[in-house]
Amino acid sequence: MRKNIIVTGGAGYIGSHTVVELAAQGYTPIIIDNFCNSEKAVIKRIEAITGEKTQVFEGNCTDKQFMTDVFAHTNPVGVIHFAAYKAVGESVNKPLDYYYNNVVSLLVLLEVMKETHCNQLVFSSSCTVYGTPEKLPVTEQSPTQKAISPYGNTKQIAEDIIKDQVVAHSGLSAVALRYFNPIGAHPSSLIGELPLGIPSNLVPFVTQTAAGWRKELTIFGNNYNTPDGTNIRDYIHVVDLAKAHVKTLEYLNGKNNFYDYINVGTGKGTSVLEVVNTFEKVSGQKLNYKIGARRAGDVEQIYASVDKSKDVLNWKTALTVEDALRDAWNWQKTLPKP
Ligand code: UFG
Repeated sequence: MRKNIIVTGGAGYIGSHTVVELAAQGYTPIIIDNFCNSEKAVIKRIEAITGEKTQVFEGNCTDKQFMTDVFAHTNPVGVIHFAAYKAVGESVNKPLDYYYNNVVSLLVLLEVMKETHCNQLVFSSSCTVYGTPEKLPVTEQSPTQKAISPYGNTKQIAEDIIKDQVVAHSGLSAVALRYFNPIGAHPSSLIGELPLGIPSNLVPFVTQTAAGWRKELTIFGNNYNTPDGTNIRDYIHVVDLAKAHVKTLEYLNGKNNFYDYINVGTGKGTSVLEVVNTFEKVSGQKLNYKIGARRAGDVEQIYASVDKSKDVLNWKTALTVEDALRDAWNWQKTLPKP
C-alpha cells in the first residue's frame, strides 16, 4: 500500500522537487499550500513529471480546523513540513509575521499530528543555526549560536519545540534537516525556483542577470579571509536535497519518541566567484558583475560535514554545482521576462 505523506509548502521550491521524488519512490504526496510564495501552475508541472494526479489542499497551516480536516480526510503516515517564510532580510522588518507564521504553523501541525496519530515528521531547518562556525566543516556536534535574524531564530525555536514534543507525543519520530544552500532546478526544466521580486539569493540573481532581467550582479565583498576573497557556501542541487527527504522518511521508520538533526549539504565549499565562473562556463553567458560592499550578517564561510547523512540516511549528493547551475540556467530560460 502506498503511504500518504503530507507535504506542507509542497508547491514551493524545495517542496515541489520533494513531491516529485516522493512519487518516484512510491509514496503518495499530498500538498498543503496557501500559495503565498508559489504559483498554482506548479501543480500541473509536478503532475507532468510524475505522470499522476496530486491532491492539493489550499489553506494555512496556522488554521487548526483546516489542518484537522485535511488530516482526517487523508490519513497520512508522515509529514514533511516546508511551509514557512524564508527571507532573512524581510524577517528583520517583519519579525511578528515570521514568528507567527513559522512557529504557530508548527504548533498547529504538531497538535494535529498528535490528535490524528500521525507519527513521522521531517522538518526544514537551516545551517543558519550554526551561526559563524569556529571549525569547518560543520558537524552536527558543532555548537549552535544565537540566531542573528528572526528567520534564523524561528528555525532554532522550531527545532527545540520538536525535540520537546517527541517526548510528549508517544510514537512521534522527527528529524530536522539542516539545509545548506539549495540551488538548481529539476532537469526537465518544468519546476524550479520562482523568487518574487528581486532575488536575495545568489543563484537566481545570477540567472536573472544573465537573462537580462537585472542589470548586474553585485558580489558582496571580496576581502574575506578566503582563497579568492569571496564568501564560501555549500551549494546543494535541489534534486539531491529532495531525495534526502525521502531517505529521512525511511530512517524514521520503526522509531518512537525519537528526534535527530542532520546536515544536508555536499561537504564541499564553493566561493561566490567560483559560482560566477562556473555559471559562465556552463551557460556560455558572460555575466555582468561588480564587486560591492559586504552584506550585513553574511558568514565568511560555511560548509557541511556530510558524514552523518552518509551514515544514518545512507544518502549523499550525486550532482555537482555545475549540474545545478546548468539546470538553474535551463529553468531560467523557460521563464517569461516580467
Ligand atoms: N551574494 C552576492 N550577491 C548577491 C546575493 C548573494 O554576492 O546578490 C553572496 C552572499 O554574500 C553569500 C552567497 O552569495 O556569500 C550566498 O548568498 P545567498 O543569499 O544565496 O545565501 P545565504 O548563504 O546568505 O543564505 C542561505 C539561505 C538562508 C539561510 C542561510 C544560512 O538563503 O535561508 O543560508 O546561512 F538562513
